[in-house]
Amino acid sequence: MGRVQGKVALITGGASGIGLSTARLMAREGAKVVIADYNVNGANEAAAAIRDSGGEAVGLFLDASKEASIKEAVEFTVKQYGMITVLFNNVGLTDLQKDLDVVNIDLVEWDRLMNVNAKSVLLGSRFAIPHMVKAGGGSIVNTASMAGFAGDSVRSAYGASKAAVVNLTKYTAAQYGKDNIRCNAVAPGLILTPAAKTSMPQAVLDIFEKYNALPYHGEADDIGYTVLFLASDESKFITGQTIQVEGGHYMANPSISDFNQYLAQFQQ
Ligand SMILES: NC(=O)c1ccc[n+]([C@@H]2O[C@H](COP(=O)([O-])OP(=O)(O)OC[C@H]3O[C@@H](n4cnc5c(N)ncnc54)[C@H](O)[C@@H]3O)[C@@H](O)[C@H]2O)c1
Repeated sequence: MGRVQGKVALITGGASGIGLSTARLMAREGAKVVIADYNVNGANEAAAAIRDSGGEAVGLFLDASKEASIKEAVEFTVKQYGMITVLFNNVGLTDLQKDLDVVNIDLVEWDRLMNVNAKSVLLGSRFAIPHMVKAGGGSIVNTASMAGFAGDSVRSAYGASKAAVVNLTKYTAAQYGKDNIRCNAVAPGLILTPAAKTSMPQAVLDIFEKYNALPYHGEADDIGYTVLFLASDESKFITGQTIQVEGGHYMANPSISDFNQYLAQFQQ
C-alpha cells in the first residue's frame, strides 16, 4: 500500500482497458486520480467505484483530439487536488479499415491518428509541465506500442504515431530532467483489453499467442503495474526509457516458431 501516496495523477483514456487498470492501481496505492475520457459516463462510473472502495478519484470528460480539452483536463486536476504530479498520456487508437499500407492509407486517417496518438501526448506534457515544476517535480508516462518498433502490413499511421511517442518521451525527459520531471513510456504488445477482444477475431489472437515467448496473452494489469512503477518514486533514476511489456513477442528470432516446427521432424 501507499506506493504513490500523496501524488496527484491525470489519466487520459481512463474509462477502459489499460487506463482503467492504471487508475484503479494508482488509487489503491494512495494517489488522487482524475479519470479523463471521451466516455464520460464510463469515467464517472470508474471514479465512483474507486471512491466506494476507499480511494480518491473523479471522472472528467476529455476529447484528446482537442487542445483546449487537454488544457482543461490539466487545469481541472490542479483545481481539484491542488497540483498534478503524475500524467499518464494514454489515449490512442487506430481504425483497421482506414489505417492501411503506405500506398492505400486514408490521409484523413493519417492526420487523425497523428493528432490523437502523438500530438495529444505533446499537449498533455506541455500543459502539465509548468505545474509539475511548481510542485517540485513529477512523472510523465506515455503509452507507446510495440507497433512503434516494428513494421507491419497495415496500421502505418498507428505505427508512425507510436514511434513519435517513443522519441518524444526522450526529448521530454532530456528537456525537463533538471526540473525533477521524469518522462518514460510503456510499449504494450497485444493486451486483451475490451477493445482488443471485440475487434480481433480468435484466429488473429491465436497468431499473436503463437509468437509470444510466454504461453498467454497480456492483460491490462500487466501494463497498469508497469505504469504504477514508473509513476512511483521506486523508478526515480529511470527517465527517457520505453519499457516493452509484450510477453517476449518481439524479443526472439521472429522465425523461431516456424524453425521449431522444422526441427520437430528430426525429433520423432
Ligand atoms: N490493447 C492493446 O493491445 C494495445 C497494444 C499496444 C498499445 N496500446 C495502447 O494502449 C492505449 C490504451 O488502449 P486500450 O487497449 O486500453 O484501449 P481501450 O479502447 O480499452 O481504452 C481507450 C480509452 O480511450 C478513450 N478514448 C478514445 N479516444 C479518445 C479521445 N479522443 N479523447 C478521450 N478519450 C478517448 C476511450 O473512450 C477508451 O475509454 C492506447 O494508446 C493504445 O494505442 C494498446
